[in-house]
Amino acid sequence: MPLETDRKIPRFDFGERAAHWMAAISFLYAALTGLALWSHKLYWLAFVFGGGATVRGWHPWGGVVFALALGVMFSRWARQMRLDADDRTWLRLSHRYMVHDESGLPEAGRFNAGQKMLFWMQSALALLLFASGLVLWWPEIMPRALRLLAIVVHPAAALGAIGGIIVHIYMGTAAVPEAFRGMMQGWVRPGWALSHHPRWFKEISRH
Ligand code: HEM
Repeated sequence: MPLETDRKIPRFDFGERAAHWMAAISFLYAALTGLALWSHKLYWLAFVFGGGATVRGWHPWGGVVFALALGVMFSRWARQMRLDADDRTWLRLSHRYMVHDESGLPEAGRFNAGQKMLFWMQSALALLLFASGLVLWWPEIMPRALRLLAIVVHPAAALGAIGGIIVHIYMGTAAVPEAFRGMMQGWVRPGWALSHHPRWFKEISRH
């Protein structure tokens, strides 16, 4: 069957896109203001966001918005992000995906195994960030041991999450062209869907 190349394939609905971009903007804000508070070498970032006191006051609220948006994403996607046997094979052979040799790789569904791993990693790190963030927000009512733990866990989880998101932004913009339009406008072309998420494309084409 020939591909109708100008057909628009719905990829993300409005709710998914709104939650994703809310998470993206709040994460970038919390990450950049957090880096300003974390290291004096990065304190100059505070001036970009209104000065030290403003950054100290608003950074936790950026985290709260991020947690809420990620909570919506989690409720929408957690079921679809479960890893199956094909995903485990995909992960074992993922070095081939990285060099654009997809031979032997199982066909990806709506999300490939790398995307699923990012989802679970970001969700786990967000939980750590949120819990340790609450401790640092109200240190006066927290036990000393919890405060010491939070001082280590909060920046460590943040650095892990920032590393993951740098890879994610690269994948979602430069490495996989057209994915960005899917997240901005909600649709992709059949050729893109077939080459990046063939099992998903075949499933939705059957209906
Ligand atoms: C400016 C920053 C960001 C850009 C440019 C971006 C871009 C994208 C794009 C293009 C997609 C769609 C991929 C596809 O169709 O297969 C996507 C999906 C997704 N994004 Fe982002 N994103 C950003 C920030 C974030 C942040 C901060 C999170 C926080 C957890 C996040 C989590 C996700 C997840 C879980 C998905 C679904 C699975 C995946 O594609 O990895 N994104 N993003």
